[in-house]
Amino acid sequence: MMRIVLLGQPGSGKGTQAQRLAAAQGIPRLTTGEMLRVAVRDGAPLGKDAKRYMERGDLVPDQLIVALMQERMGTADCARGYILDGFPRTRVQAEALDAMLTTVGAALQHVLLLEVDEAEIRRRLSGRRECPKCGSTFHLTAQPPKVAGVCDRCQTALVQRPDDQEATIARRLAVYVRETKPLIGYYEARGLLRRVTAPGGPDEVFRAISSLITMGP
Ligand code: AP5
Repeated sequence: MMRIVLLGQPGSGKGTQAQRLAAAQGIPRLTTGEMLRVAVRDGAPLGKDAKRYMERGDLVPDQLIVALMQERMGTADCARGYILDGFPRTRVQAEALDAMLTTVGAALQHVLLLEVDEAEIRRRLSGRRECPKCGSTFHLTAQPPKVAGVCDRCQTALVQRPDDQEATIARRLAVYVRETKPLIGYYEARGLLRRVTAPGGPDEVFRAISSLITMGP
């Protein structure tokens, strides 16, 4: 049973590592950003509410996110654990997660903080390309697809996320400092926080994470 939170600035590699961890552990990754993007694309009521916040680089209101995650975490494939990628992102969300876990008699095993300097964050976000169909993430130079501009998994044309424009990146980074960074202390106080400072590419970071989670608390 493995319940892991991935914490870190926009572009720190949460999505990239969530995909690898979920595959290695055989558990789902619950990626709030991706769930919201699907809702926007499908014209779902949640997507209609969330779109304007996401386009600005702001957080979607807590009550919408908590309701989304309550429903998702209650589904059968989450019974053996999950990787939380992008949730929680505020103190309210962290407390809601604690309450959800307490209700089912469960606990988090690890909160992994991906630490990356800001110049690298900007380089990663500006070069990111994403598959609009399956959600796979690539980078023009650090993690290029086998065929330029095409998803390795489902052969769909890759796109740049609208919130990866320079002005929106700046706002997302500021929102992180204000709303999400305080969760570092929240989880540190509970003895759950593990810092992942590996400077290398996705494989090296994954090796660092794998050895941290096998070491246990
Ligand atoms: P979300 O999609 O979660 O965006 P984010 O947190 O800003 O994170 P990113 O997806 O930008 O980056 P990442 O850390 O996953 O990095 P990645 O692996 O892609 O959220 C989008 C929006 O939805 C939010 O702004 C908000 O509006 C809303 N939202 C979502 N969750 C919410 C919540 N809980 N509450 C309220 N609102 C919410 O990597 C980035 C790039 O770098 C890629 O190109 C990748 O190939 C490359 N890369 C990754 N690792 C490495 C490496 N080690 N070396 C070199 N390149 C690398």
